Amino acid sequence: MQTLTVVITGAAGRIAYALIPLVCSGMVFGNETRVNLRLLDVNFAADKLQGVAMEVEDCNYPLLEKCIATLSADEAFHDADVAVLLGGFPRLQGMERKDLITKNAEGIREQSRTMDRVSKTTIKVCVVANPANTNCLVAMKFAPSIPPENFTCLTRLDEERLRGFVLQKTRENKLAGVCAKDIKDLSIWGNHSATQVPFIDCGYIETPGSRVQVSELYSSEVERKELTSQVQNRGAAIIKMQQASSGLSAANAIANHLADWLNPNVSTDKIFSMGILSTGNPYGIADGLVYSFPLRRCAGGVEIVPDINISAHVREMLAASEAELQGERQDAESLVGDLTIATRARL
Ligand code: LMR
Repeated sequence: MQTLTVVITGAAGRIAYALIPLVCSGMVFGNETRVNLRLLDVNFAADKLQGVAMEVEDCNYPLLEKCIATLSADEAFHDADVAVLLGGFPRLQGMERKDLITKNAEGIREQSRTMDRVSKTTIKVCVVANPANTNCLVAMKFAPSIPPENFTCLTRLDEERLRGFVLQKTRENKLAGVCAKDIKDLSIWGNHSATQVPFIDCGYIETPGSRVQVSELYSSEVERKELTSQVQNRGAAIIKMQQASSGLSAANAIANHLADWLNPNVSTDKIFSMGILSTGNPYGIADGLVYSFPLRRCAGGVEIVPDINISAHVREMLAASEAELQGERQDAESLVGDLTIATRARL
């Protein structure tokens, strides 16, 4: 049985509280992998962090080898195999995620420098703290000993939101017996922001004896537009209702993201979304951004699904998200310096 050392930053927060049980129960890395958990947070959350660690002890998760709660990034990241970067200032009502660049980019840079010094060079990193794409670029930049393809950002939450809305639509259209897992090959392109592009054209719904293209459920432009807007604005809608950003659904999406990326026992034939370095992508998106694409597993990692037909309208949307990410990159560069990534990503 292998053991993975998994770091969760912002570990006293809401997402971590929902993520820890998933990581320690086999849902992420499989039932044959034990976990050595490192919970990291900042000084002002010290008591809460300790409380979370005490609860983890009381859970006696069968796959948990050891849990350390620490305020030291060096201790947390030492020899780590996987890191989930949740820690950062959260979006409040009325903010866009990019408004958080000034609050979070420098913290990510410092954590990344630490990873560069003390983690395994094979570490796999999932950036969640917003703005997730641009923070991921910062993380990549300041850990030059770790290959860029080991850094991803979370857009799976948007993909799951898209799946949820499509599921509702199947019910409105009286398609019987469809569960979320039957809705396959949806994807998110671009930024984890209000410019993201939820994409249904490869999507299909498969139940015993039936296969329906998702696009058949959205015959009019009006319906497609509404779907796009619902997904783009779901995070803000949750903040409005809860006065806090998503926790449960974010944790669930992180678990799916990590499993599809890293768990060898998970099916490899499906499409899923993550933000990765855009350099060398086959869709003409500018190099040097962290951009979400439809991906699938390949030997040794993930690859962008090639040859997808993109309409002129979707192309415009992809370009708008690209332009937003270029702007975010410039804003981040004014804080942390040049974000050119020297190494070409393996795509
Ligand atoms: C989300 O999408 O729920 C998170 O990124 C939090 C946010 O700011 O919306």
